[in-house]
Amino acid sequence: MSHHDDDLHGLLAEYETPSALVAACKKVRDAGYAKWDTYTPFPVHGIEKAMGIRMTGLPWIVLAAALVGLASAVGLQWWTNAVDYKFISSGKPMWSIPANVPVYFELTVLFSAFAALFGMLILNNLPEPSHPLDHLQAFGRVTDDRFFLYIEKGDAKFDLAETQRLLDGTHPVTVDAVNEDRRTSDQLPKPLVLAAAVIAVVALVPFAFIAKARATKTDKPKIHAMGDMDWQIKFQAQQPNPLFSNGMAMRAPEPGTVAMDEHPDDEHLTAGKVDGQFVRTFPASVTIDDATMARGRDRYQVFCAPCHGVSGNGDGPVAQRAMTLAEGTWVPPTALGQDYLRQMPVGQLYDVVNNGVRNMPGYGSQIPVDERWAVVLYLRALQKAKAAPVGELTDAERAALK
Ligand code: HEC
Repeated sequence: MSHHDDDLHGLLAEYETPSALVAACKKVRDAGYAKWDTYTPFPVHGIEKAMGIRMTGLPWIVLAAALVGLASAVGLQWWTNAVDYKFISSGKPMWSIPANVPVYFELTVLFSAFAALFGMLILNNLPEPSHPLDHLQAFGRVTDDRFFLYIEKGDAKFDLAETQRLLDGTHPVTVDAVNEDRRTSDQLPKPLVLAAAVIAVVALVPFAFIAKARATKTDKPKIHAMGDMDWQIKFQAQQPNPLFSNGMAMRAPEPGTVAMDEHPDDEHLTAGKVDGQFVRTFPASVTIDDATMARGRDRYQVFCAPCHGVSGNGDGPVAQRAMTLAEGTWVPPTALGQDYLRQMPVGQLYDVVNNGVRNMPGYGSQIPVDERWAVVLYLRALQKAKAAPVGELTDAERAALK
């Protein structure tokens, strides 16, 4: 055995059988060594216990990461859905736990997987690209039929003579001094570290572009990644087209075409107002007849009756359900036969249908202009029916009531 003390990396004991190794482990464990390890061709039962290896802390790290992942998911979904960009989708509440479970699951798993991988590497001091044992001829049999125990010089208890004596007493085949001998550095290869750093920096560049694009304006045309579709052979607006006699690709609208935003200039019709005042008359273009009344009744029963009730008493099924649940704050739908609503200008009723009022949402996006007026017409009929003075009834009708 010859070595320079400075070069020494550790002492390697070689055994013929697993049981000899396990017995040796117990002695080294009891002597209080910490920086040592065993190497075997196959897993040896009971060796962790013989080596005094305690349960790893990794599960706690993974648990902590999982909780952080879960908390980020809850926070993310809450902030985006319920606070920053309130948006009802599929009629779910803004803040709904069941709807977001996939996100919770996903982030919890993602965070714990990363913690498990990187925690394992860090706790094991990995990656370690080289080790003095790699080049030891005798150590080759570790993959075949020999069992090794290695104590590093870095151990606080390591003392060459003392440790040598301890190992000699465990019936090894040999005990070898292992010198520091690495052909590769024990650091990660420089080019690899450099490449990782470059990739990390380059990965930030798109964010820089996004940030710039958000803050500045440009009159340059957009980038065409795949031009084939953008520049396929076709006629575009403002381009010439020899097919038509006037040589233009664009066609004039058919006579009588109605614009998408209906009647932009008719304030009476579209806003229920003239000079900022709610109108008391129906617009000229709305025909007051049985057909309009029937359409209004139909639309009322679809859009209004769920809350206001079929006869406008404010007792629709939605209202009744809300009263039964008695959750949070519920403003009951107004009973529509009340005096102030009978006095209300038709323009204002139209405005309620169109834009909603206080706690009631508007239905303008679902009911076209003329049908809004039809609903108002039917509303007026409902109100009349509720408040019909006996004097307005015919003799026959009065007789029928008795
Ligand atoms: C989702 C339930 C709901 C639906 C559907 C609904 N309303 Fe309402 N409506 C209400 C509530 C609630 C109020 C009382 C709002 C308040 O006082 O904050 C109300 C109030 C009203 C008022 C009284 C306005 C005022 O100035 O006092 C009218 C008129 C009215 N609704 C008409 C309609 C018509 C017409 C429809 C169908 C197009 C309709 N509502 C559909 C819930 C509803």
